[in-house]
Amino acid sequence: MRYNPFQPNKVVNSAMFVGRLDEIQKIEHYLFQAKSGNSQNFLIEGERGIGKSSLLHYVSTIATNRIPGPGGQKFNFLLLSIDMGGVTKQLDIVRSIARELKSCLSRTQEIRENAKKVFDFLANWEILGVRYHKSSETVDPDDAKDSLVDQLVEISGNQSLGYDGVLILIDEADAPPIEAGLGEFLKSMTERLTRRDCENVIFGLAGLPTTIAKMRATHESSPRIFTILHLEPLESKERKQAIRIGLRIANEKNDRSTSISDDGLEMLADLSEGYPHFIQQFSYCAFEADSDHNIDVDDVRTGAYDENGAIDQLGKKYFSEAYFSKINSDDYRKLLNVMANHGDKWVSRKQLLHESRLKETTINNALSALKQKAIIIVDESRQGFYRLPTRSFAAWINAIKSVGTEADPARLPRITLFSENDGR
Ligand SMILES: Nc1ncnc2c1ncn2[C@@H]1O[C@H](COP(=O)(O)OP(=O)(O)O)[C@@H](O)[C@H]1O
Ligand SMILES: [Mg+2]
Repeated sequence: MRYNPFQPNKVVNSAMFVGRLDEIQKIEHYLFQAKSGNSQNFLIEGERGIGKSSLLHYVSTIATNRIPGPGGQKFNFLLLSIDMGGVTKQLDIVRSIARELKSCLSRTQEIRENAKKVFDFLANWEILGVRYHKSSETVDPDDAKDSLVDQLVEISGNQSLGYDGVLILIDEADAPPIEAGLGEFLKSMTERLTRRDCENVIFGLAGLPTTIAKMRATHESSPRIFTILHLEPLESKERKQAIRIGLRIANEKNDRSTSISDDGLEMLADLSEGYPHFIQQFSYCAFEADSDHNIDVDDVRTGAYDENGAIDQLGKKYFSEAYFSKINSDDYRKLLNVMANHGDKWVSRKQLLHESRLKETTINNALSALKQKAIIIVDESRQGFYRLPTRSFAAWINAIKSVGTEADPARLPRITLFSENDGR
């Protein structure tokens, strides 16, 4: 048995975290501004698996004085991490912040005493909250917001608690339905806080690239209260750094060290195309496949291609059933392979014809089937232009392609995308 350091299924811990320096520096700056009395909210947006939750987690360690920021700043914010699960209306958002606030304030006897006023208020409020739940129509969300703002103002300005401010982190901000009015909620909360001269409470959100549009749908100008930080895939040297750090941590824990060959490292970095989730998954599986304490290209390939290997896992976790069990024609595969060379950029039908060398009727059939299954996106403004929905989907197809061409052909049908069994 060996300890495998790679973490494909959870938020990365601070020791394994790589890259994102630019974003972290910016957020360190916002924290500093808030501490000095000029609040600045931020939204981290990016595809699934790009590392939004991990970045939020890293930020939370800086904000709560567990590690200093890259610029050497130390902070002591009260951190409220809010879960948007099950939120259907604004009162639910108010309630989840209030509940988290109460739970943070009850952590130690000292905090409980210093924050007695707020703590007692919240304790009573929660009873009220239960009543809200039963007849929520009768409660005015504006009153609830005012009360919550009162408590935040009290906590952030309470000298005996010694906080630099309050940082409210909301992950999966794309998840609540539009009716929950998250955008409107945030807009009115920040306005209320400003009116009370409370400038050290900030909101940090993370969500899919659809988050902004969703917020705008609830309140036209709500996106304006955020600085948007868009996450891109990791650079090549960061990918390798992630793998090297993982191995170093493993070698500290395991009796025998594991090394990696240069081409093995190169292949892992290439296969991932910079998606942190892919890096962790491919590296995890290569580590498992290795038996001689040196990860080489064969281990990477086996780990990627095996049944329940990295490609399988990524497909199942990221690209819903539709993406794989339904794409079981060879022609679709050829078309997708060509499209994947262009990432998520628009490609014309003419270009697809040229690059795939498929017959015109075949292309037409494949395009209309893939379009119908929402596997490809059609340009509404131009005729005959198509693209893949995300770059990570393209990266996944490219990984199958590059490992597949060198793998034992007998193994190929294991990946449903490659099945010969044409479902049409
Ligand atoms: N900066 C990073 N360095 C190393 N691994 C990372 C980094 N960011 C994310 N990961 C890894 O990538 C995967 C997806 O990250 P996650 O934060 O859950 O993405 P998202 O929230 O955008 O879906 C996780 O397995 C995590 O361990
Ligand atoms: Mg996440």
